[in-house]
Amino acid sequence: MSQSSDRLYQVDSVPEDFDFNKRVVEVFDDMLDRSIPFYQEVIAAIAQLLDAHLQDKERICDLGCATGTSLVKLARLLRHKGFAFTGIDSSEAMLEKARLKARFYTDQDNISFAQEDITAINRPDTGAFIMNYTLQFIRPLLRPPLIARLYDSLRPGGLLVLSEKTIQPDKKLNRTYIEIYHRFKQERGYSELEIARKREALENILIPFSIEENSALLRNAGFTPVTTFFQWFNFSSIVAVKPA
Ligand SMILES: C[S@@+](CC[C@H](N)C(=O)[O-])C[C@H]1O[C@@H](n2cnc3c(N)ncnc32)[C@H](O)[C@@H]1O
Repeated sequence: MSQSSDRLYQVDSVPEDFDFNKRVVEVFDDMLDRSIPFYQEVIAAIAQLLDAHLQDKERICDLGCATGTSLVKLARLLRHKGFAFTGIDSSEAMLEKARLKARFYTDQDNISFAQEDITAINRPDTGAFIMNYTLQFIRPLLRPPLIARLYDSLRPGGLLVLSEKTIQPDKKLNRTYIEIYHRFKQERGYSELEIARKREALENILIPFSIEENSALLRNAGFTPVTTFFQWFNFSSIVAVKPA
């Protein structure tokens, strides 16, 4: 399947707020590879957590599944568990590509997709929710009720896996982390101008919390334990358990 490279912020067009529209969908997989450090490794780590903690045939929901990259990889890595995978996203353009990819890259009929707003989620008896780089796009006021809904929908002992871009409470360290991240993007072919323009487009749209704030959000909803299983500077992944 062809993949277009991300040149969205190269052109000298009028900057607009970032949106998951058709133009972004076209280049999305290239954007993931070049913008999210250790993206593939994090999915592989999630597969290990799900393999160890879930029973065969449980339901796993990927919230903000975008073009289905994680689900397709998880379905391949966890074929032996017979899980039922559901990808949920509000963008029909993303889902169109996700459905195509699932058909193209897996031989299974256990992946389905639904167009829904995750803030209204209600999926009782789910074994695990995965929410990778998506909570950061939900308005902060809507985050506590969303996490509470996920807690209610999980079966006792179920998992919530959360990956986010995070901030450091210490200002100097935070600046250093951001500079290190920009170097990561430059090494992957983004120019300084592109990085600056993307940053501007995401301002007010992507609102990152610190690891401590995200952990408190999860603990306040009742999750325990809540632990960080991956961190690379300002990118973090947390696993939270609904007590059995
Ligand atoms: C950065 S992408 C997620 C990447 C994806 N989880 C992955 O790891 O490949 C964020 C996704 O969240 C979706 N999204 C944002 N707000 C949403 C909402 N309220 N309900 C459902 N999906 C939403 C966007 O359409 C977009 O596809």
